Amino acid sequence: MVIFLKACSQESAHLDVIGGEPAAAPPFFVALHEPGESSPFCGGTLIGKNLAVTAAHCVSNASGPIEVWLGVSDLKNRPEPIRVEAVRVHPQYHNRRFQHDVALLFLERDNGNETAAMSVKGRAEEPLHLLGFGNTSRKGHTYPDQIQSAYVNEVPAYECEALGGPYKFVIGQQICASAPLSDSCDGDSGGPLLLQGQLYGIVSWGTGCGDPTQPGVYTRAASYREWIETERNARLPIEELAYAVFYYPLVHDGRQFTAGYHLWKEEALPSQEEALEAWTRSYRGQEYVLRLLKVGPQRYRFEFRADGKVFSTPAPYSKIGPG
Ligand code: ARG
Repeated sequence: MVIFLKACSQESAHLDVIGGEPAAAPPFFVALHEPGESSPFCGGTLIGKNLAVTAAHCVSNASGPIEVWLGVSDLKNRPEPIRVEAVRVHPQYHNRRFQHDVALLFLERDNGNETAAMSVKGRAEEPLHLLGFGNTSRKGHTYPDQIQSAYVNEVPAYECEALGGPYKFVIGQQICASAPLSDSCDGDSGGPLLLQGQLYGIVSWGTGCGDPTQPGVYTRAASYREWIETERNARLPIEELAYAVFYYPLVHDGRQFTAGYHLWKEEALPSQEEALEAWTRSYRGQEYVLRLLKVGPQRYRFEFRADGKVFSTPAPYSKIGPG
């Protein structure tokens, strides 16, 4: 993910030049990573108490827990990681057209870091500021230790749409932006595109990196202000609660269990079976019980209880990994 700042050399196409500059991360810059990893897979922005925003595509296929570093500038000098308690992907996120590519991360804490304001501007008349740890090479892969910063300009929607191909699906809730020498790139996704220091866009996609005729596409932050407001106060839907609860280490018989939140069946089912193990987790002031049931040899099923209802993994789930 990242910001790919790439400057292309006019005359030697094989020579990659880096268009970005090393920078200092603002305190609201969020770097998403897997526990134990030393480099991030996406960026994000702290926008409220214990609340960060990122791209849906960064987290929609998560197969395990996610942690973040706040305000990290240098990956050789990382702050204490913070656990993501729950993820809320925008319900209209389209995983091929990348529309509504936005998700919220509910964090265990935020260290009191300064948050970013959301821009209300509908059009950027001045350069937009990108930040990220994404690929800095136009061809190949170079991931920097130091956060990179670059500037791009908004491309009018009609011009962007006229490029055709995937750009046909760019909607008003998105922003196209490019610059002769700079672009975002893989690894920058989810990270901020700032207008006057406020969150204006979220890195989403592009065709290749660093070709000024192929703008980067960003989720328009201002279009999701209402959705974010609703979600920040809402009780999380059951699937996300299950996800939150589930990704805490669950150990039975010395073995650790993992599974994806997408396995949860939405409708409630009754259950009389005896649990092998039950874990209680408290989340946002409420207690939830997760039970492990054995349904056959090497076959297990999880059950999640909240609000007097029972939710369950749809099929016997047997993936039990060591550690
Ligand atoms: N999809 C990329 C990511 O996941 C971001 C790509 C942005 N590309 C571009 N040319 N602006 O990190």
